[in-house]
Amino acid sequence: MNIKITSGHLRNARVKAVISFIFKEDRKLSPEIENLDRILDGAISQLKREQKFDGNDGKVLVVPTLGKGKMDYVILIGAGSKRKADLDKVRRLGNISVKTAKNLKIDRFLLDAESLSVIKESEPIIAQALVEGVILGSYRFDKYLSKKDDYRIKELQIRVKRRYRDKAENAVNTGRILAESQNFTRDIVNEPGNVITPEKLAQIAQDLAREYGFEVKIYDEEEIEKMEMNAYLAVAKGSANPPRFIHIIYRPEKPKKKIALIGKGLTFDSGGLNIKPGDYMRWMKADKSGACAVLGIFKAIGQLKPDVEVHGIIAAAENMPDGRSYRPDDIIKAKNGVTIEIGNTDAEGRLTLADALSYASELKPDAIIDMATLTGACVVALGEYTAGVMGNDEKLIDEILEISKKTGEWMWPLPFNDMLREHIKAPHADVYNIGTTRYGGAITAGLFLEKFVDKKIPWVHIDIAGPAHNTKGWYYHPKGATGFPVRTITTFLLDQE
Ligand code: BES
Ligand code: ZN
Ligand code: ZN
Repeated sequence: MNIKITSGHLRNARVKAVISFIFKEDRKLSPEIENLDRILDGAISQLKREQKFDGNDGKVLVVPTLGKGKMDYVILIGAGSKRKADLDKVRRLGNISVKTAKNLKIDRFLLDAESLSVIKESEPIIAQALVEGVILGSYRFDKYLSKKDDYRIKELQIRVKRRYRDKAENAVNTGRILAESQNFTRDIVNEPGNVITPEKLAQIAQDLAREYGFEVKIYDEEEIEKMEMNAYLAVAKGSANPPRFIHIIYRPEKPKKKIALIGKGLTFDSGGLNIKPGDYMRWMKADKSGACAVLGIFKAIGQLKPDVEVHGIIAAAENMPDGRSYRPDDIIKAKNGVTIEIGNTDAEGRLTLADALSYASELKPDAIIDMATLTGACVVALGEYTAGVMGNDEKLIDEILEISKKTGEWMWPLPFNDMLREHIKAPHADVYNIGTTRYGGAITAGLFLEKFVDKKIPWVHIDIAGPAHNTKGWYYHPKGATGFPVRTITTFLLDQE
């Protein structure tokens, strides 16, 4: 797709459709649309009246120009109330725009970012969000379909005021990279467990490293054993697909900080010996979403080149029942010496993360962020659209929550406390891998992880079990993987100074 920034009058646009946005409170057409209305002999105002189009959220008015304008269609899309409009509304409008264009088989269109300028963000940032919405909304995972839909956008023009053109050019480029990287994450998550094994995940990391010049080190089973990552190994033991520990590094010339990103990488989670019932085992190919988010973030930073050193760490494994599987009641010594009593083999993610967090701590980074589809309890607590955020550093937590408000990747803090710490005390080892009750299950999982992080290092844990994947489709996310939270964490890295 070719993306161009323009700033001429709408009536002169050289595209098949001009798409502009109108708010519920707007009683009159904007001067630009009024101008087009005159050229079309009042067709816009007439159809608007006849179809009772009122700028309500998501409403669409399609006006064919029937040879009178330079374009084939003028399309107005309702943006709802001005008070509620924010950046994520802009992404959703980008998504509605591309869906409308697709229905009309329009492959060259203009989006009028200027018509959204009442939103309290600068016009270049609005332009960026529109592009993100278009690219995220166009995503399809269709590689296994014999009959593919061949609609592709050929040209997208984004119209801003002339004085914002250069800034918009930059912002739109960032938006395109962020959204494409998020789609890259979606692509890997959507691949099933028979395609993406731990070895395959490692290969994807190596391919990325080659493409963008990252350093990468892949450790096989023997080396993982030498590093004494016994908690991680225990999870991997039941699978015919061997584990791979992935460490990928982006090193800019003069890094201002060093950040470690960890992603839970269960290429499939059957539950192990505590096997999941069928309904709960469905979609467990998405239990590698955290790992895939890390890879998507690397795809983005390979192009956006922030001034921070970034370490991506993935303890990839498959959790399967087998004669070699780890069992309930097993006691395991993790890499950092902490002993773990297994209460349930389905609480496997925290075991793989335990050793990954110890490994990351040894790198002495300025911050550690882990992303994991860790608990069903988090989905119960917050619903399937919001991630739970926990950690040992209020400032870092707040920083990420603040960014998430702009990216539309919803996150909410979950509180640690000493009473819940009691829930993971085990009878015969330092810690249990499950809580003694099911209450606060997302938090007890976070508290378990805390035992493997160097206390001096600011650390944030993002439980993405809900929003990483969805079975219905939501806003600009089609059914399946969402690519959450690639944009938030990449933006965080770009913001570091
Ligand atoms: N991968 C699951 C968590 C999950 C659940 C992700 C639903 C996405 C959607 C995790 O490994 C798991 O099975 N957790 C258990 C923990 C329990 C045994 C303490 C859970 O949440 O039920
Ligand atoms: Zn599990
Ligand atoms: Zn899992």
